[in-house]
Amino acid sequence: MARSKITVIGAGNVGATTAQRIAEAGLADVVLVDIVEGLPQGKGLDLAEAAPVVGHDAHILGTNDYADTAGSDIIVVTSGIARKPGMSRDDLMNTNAGIVKAVVAAATAVSPNAILILVTNPLDVMCHVALQASGFPRERVLGMAGVLDSARFRTFIARELNVSVEDTHAFVLGGHGDTMVPLPRYSTVAGIPITELMSPERVAALVDRTANGGAEIVGLLKTGSAFYAPAASVFEMVESIVLDRRRVLPCAVLLQGEYGQDNLFVGVPVVLGSNGLEKIIQITLTADEQAAFDKSAGAVREQVALLA
Ligand code: APR
Repeated sequence: MARSKITVIGAGNVGATTAQRIAEAGLADVVLVDIVEGLPQGKGLDLAEAAPVVGHDAHILGTNDYADTAGSDIIVVTSGIARKPGMSRDDLMNTNAGIVKAVVAAATAVSPNAILILVTNPLDVMCHVALQASGFPRERVLGMAGVLDSARFRTFIARELNVSVEDTHAFVLGGHGDTMVPLPRYSTVAGIPITELMSPERVAALVDRTANGGAEIVGLLKTGSAFYAPAASVFEMVESIVLDRRRVLPCAVLLQGEYGQDNLFVGVPVVLGSNGLEKIIQITLTADEQAAFDKSAGAVREQVALLA
């Protein structure tokens, strides 16, 4: 059986690290695309030259030409620009929307059966842009945010309780960023809700740190944003699709009535398999949780309305 083919658009920090993870796991052949000439070719060749040492046979190609991406099974979109001084959030959103629209149109034209995974921020809004630009059904347009947000929450839970990260689970809903909605009662250590293991104040502190997790990294790096954990999070989604593992992961998907929202991309727990979105898992929220979720969804809806 031929290896899967995965295109990663944007050969920057997140894109290149994602390509590295996919190739080095031997999961799929990777095509790395960027608008900057030489960048994807250079990183692609460098990654290929690591293969003999790492010991994998995945092919890695760097290119500026979408013809090379034809027939991809998955397309990961990380292309975009970072916010520059003097630029408003809305300016950034519309600039990145233009980039995402163009790359999704070019890539899906030659890979009409691919599954799209969006990473570019503002994430939930970019999913709307990609859905429209591709004309794909909602099953094949997914946003990576919840896996990252819950990974951050799990890291802080494990550190707080001095236990293995592997035994932690976190349940996160809503839009990516400061309005995300972590559900502590479903966030557990070996099945035990964290509300049994730490005080409400400590839970609130960890939730707050998680919601501001992206900004914390930007504050430290100063010249860029997080990429190791985002790339690892994309990899987890890609692996579940390629191997049809049916992992239950929080992803941004188009809600059509689920959780009380219609025609809106926002993070909810889903089953990810070879068809992309296999199933949305719905749970009954408490009144407080639903209110927080609605607030988060409202913030995403406002941003979507600002798309030029
Ligand atoms: N086509 C292809 N690539 C493009 C285009 C385009 N039209 N426009 C920009 N790019 C490329 C840039 O050349 C750059 O190499 O996208 C890449 C982005 O890389 P970085 O600036 O390193 O950004 P990164 O840290 O990887 O983050 C990418 O993911 O997590 C989100 O908020 C983050 O939106 C950002 C995205």
